[in-house]
Amino acid sequence: MSRKEINVDEFVVHMASPVANSTDRASEGSLRPTDMGQFIGQTELVNHLSIVLQSARARNQPPDHILFSGPPGLGKTSLAGIVAAELGVSMRITSGPVLTRPGDVAALLTDLSEHEVLFIDEIHRLSRTVEEVLYPAMEDRRLDVMIGRGPSARSIRLELPHFTLVGATTRTGLVAAPLRDRFGFIGKLDFYTVPELAQVIERSAKILEIGVATDAAVLIASRSRGTPRIANRLLRRVRDFANVHQQTQIDVESARNALTTFGIDELGLDKVDRRILEVLCDQFATQPVGVSTLSHVIGEEPHTVEESYEPFLLREGLLARSNRGRVATEKAYRHLGKTPPSI
Ligand SMILES: Nc1ncnc2c1ncn2[C@@H]1O[C@H](COP(=O)(O)OP(=O)(O)OP(=O)(O)O)[C@@H](O)[C@H]1O
Ligand SMILES: [Mg+2]
Repeated sequence: MSRKEINVDEFVVHMASPVANSTDRASEGSLRPTDMGQFIGQTELVNHLSIVLQSARARNQPPDHILFSGPPGLGKTSLAGIVAAELGVSMRITSGPVLTRPGDVAALLTDLSEHEVLFIDEIHRLSRTVEEVLYPAMEDRRLDVMIGRGPSARSIRLELPHFTLVGATTRTGLVAAPLRDRFGFIGKLDFYTVPELAQVIERSAKILEIGVATDAAVLIASRSRGTPRIANRLLRRVRDFANVHQQTQIDVESARNALTTFGIDELGLDKVDRRILEVLCDQFATQPVGVSTLSHVIGEEPHTVEESYEPFLLREGLLARSNRGRVATEKAYRHLGKTPPSI
């Protein structure tokens, strides 16, 4: 049996989106909010979670198991760390694809200390056999282990310490219903508003020791696609630009110039996003295109197009998707300064 334990920051390095570079990923750890007070936005979720955690603390019992769901970069891993910090306990970190065999999860569970938090990221990617080990563990703190093989094999039951499982998923729909039902608290994270992202940027700028004017923070926020991870990434690029131009304070002008230099437009689209829309507008016009053709033309992997680029284009109403494929919308044509085809 192998035990998988990963340090938080290594884990972040491993898990970050394909569009970030490795230095960005390493510094993500330092920008991560570590207690509830530092966590910006998601007000309703934070209120509910605080009640659950306060009550658990008052009873000196672990809270219900907790599942966080929502698109990448909205703060699921950060919240898992905050749960452990608020409970004053340590956290073990692992992820669905890493736990390949029932033995992996059994080793992890039997090694937990009393009240510890076990964080399983990408929990929708657990295999069915691993999930089946988790069910009795979550419900009754019980682990049934088979010892030996063949006719002499027997099952022994182990009692586990009190623990809290915190799961995170970008795809709630893919979490098996019996697993989902065993979480007493499900927190769904929504995209952030521009004022919230401006607050994230101001907080991060302090940590990065660079001044940022309020209107510059708002400008960066408005191009961050509702996502704190992207807000921090854009801030670092703007910081680089300001450093090169010997500025100690980011003003709105340098923020705008930096983002233009790095190819981030008013809607927060980058070069690849615009290339996708251009291909749809210019090469295919009203004809729907399948994701594999589209990915091939722009030179990206189909799952990168589907998971990293399309959701935002869909959400912004720039791209429409049907069974037959993708088409650019009228808004996309206008955004690129093109005339929509008359149908
Ligand atoms: N509410 C917040 N307040 C301040 N910063 C935040 C907040 N949420 C996220 N961040 C910042 O965004 C970064 C990414 O957040 P996090 O890693 O928690 O997202 P995630 O939902 O786990 O993403 P993924 O699905 O890719 O694992 C954090 O390192 C942190 O700097
Ligand atoms: Mg995460």
